[in-house]
Amino acid sequence: MGIPKSLFGRTPSGQEVFRYTLSNSNGMAIDVINYGGIVVRLTVPDKHGVLADVVLGYDDLDSYLQSNPYFGALIGRYGNRIAHGKFNLDGITYSLPQNNGANNLHGGPNGFDKVYWQIEPLEDLNALRLSYTSVDGEEGFPGNLQVEVLYTLMADNEWRIDYRAVTDKKTVVNLTQHSYFNLTGDAYQSIDQHKLHVHADYFIPVNDQHIPLSEFASVMHTPFDFRQPTSVGSRVHAQDQQLMNGNGYDHCWVLRNETGELYLAASLYDPASGRLLEVYTTEPGIQVYSGNFLDGTSIGKGGIPYQKRHGICLETEHFPDSPNRPSFPSVVLEPGKVYSSTTVYKFSTL
Ligand code: GLA
Repeated sequence: MGIPKSLFGRTPSGQEVFRYTLSNSNGMAIDVINYGGIVVRLTVPDKHGVLADVVLGYDDLDSYLQSNPYFGALIGRYGNRIAHGKFNLDGITYSLPQNNGANNLHGGPNGFDKVYWQIEPLEDLNALRLSYTSVDGEEGFPGNLQVEVLYTLMADNEWRIDYRAVTDKKTVVNLTQHSYFNLTGDAYQSIDQHKLHVHADYFIPVNDQHIPLSEFASVMHTPFDFRQPTSVGSRVHAQDQQLMNGNGYDHCWVLRNETGELYLAASLYDPASGRLLEVYTTEPGIQVYSGNFLDGTSIGKGGIPYQKRHGICLETEHFPDSPNRPSFPSVVLEPGKVYSSTTVYKFSTL
């Protein structure tokens, strides 16, 4: 059915930003723009076949340029936080911008969510190939990093994301996608009734700056136990130090994913619409962020002010602050090696 392309806007320097639309025969569609590799719209059917847009975002490029809490964006070079914006590789200390208190968040103030991605439509695959080269020293990270992200829309309503990167100098990489989902398709509603299921026995407790404490914690007997599908809102107000530190759920769960194979990490279900989202990943962790910082000041698509917990992010990734935690799975990429990672967001109805 082709991959339509239309002008979405222009950056302040005059660069044209296009919107590309992937679609399939079920009516599912994904709209992606060059700026930030942002998914600006994702429509899926409910249990009656009614299509709705299930991601938060803006109607126009200017709104994304002005202020975007990472709606729909690609995140790099390092998803999540690096404590004090510092890490060491082979005796060299690298300093990154401290754009989240004293820490580096999501690769810095000019991370991959704010760069211009080249987009190549691949009609045979029903996919878009996004590419970007981050130069040595960009946002403080070493190495020229060539990144490719493939967004594929499958016939069975899977949005598949394949990340690939190579470097010419030893560096760290942790890429993710920051879509905010609201499966009701109506962003006036919160996601409190969504049932979340996370296939993890441990999560990573954090301090009030969202930096990991020293040890993983068992989810047992805590509001972080989502081993059975449980609504997000049912325990979010519990008296719990971790919920206070996170201002809600904003934590990384440790997946039972020893092999790095594609693995069912989590699912999210909206009983009212019947929409089910299953998240598969090769990554060891998933950051669940329940839209805690949304406060109505972001006026989203259709003029809707996005309120606290009206969207939820399911960010597959390596653990926060891994460059400074020798016991965490490594995020180091060496020249001659290929970073590769896959995540699938699969939509269906129940
Ligand atoms: C993340 C972080 C959150 C918050 C959002 C953006 O995923 O974990 O703490 O910064 O991005 O608002």
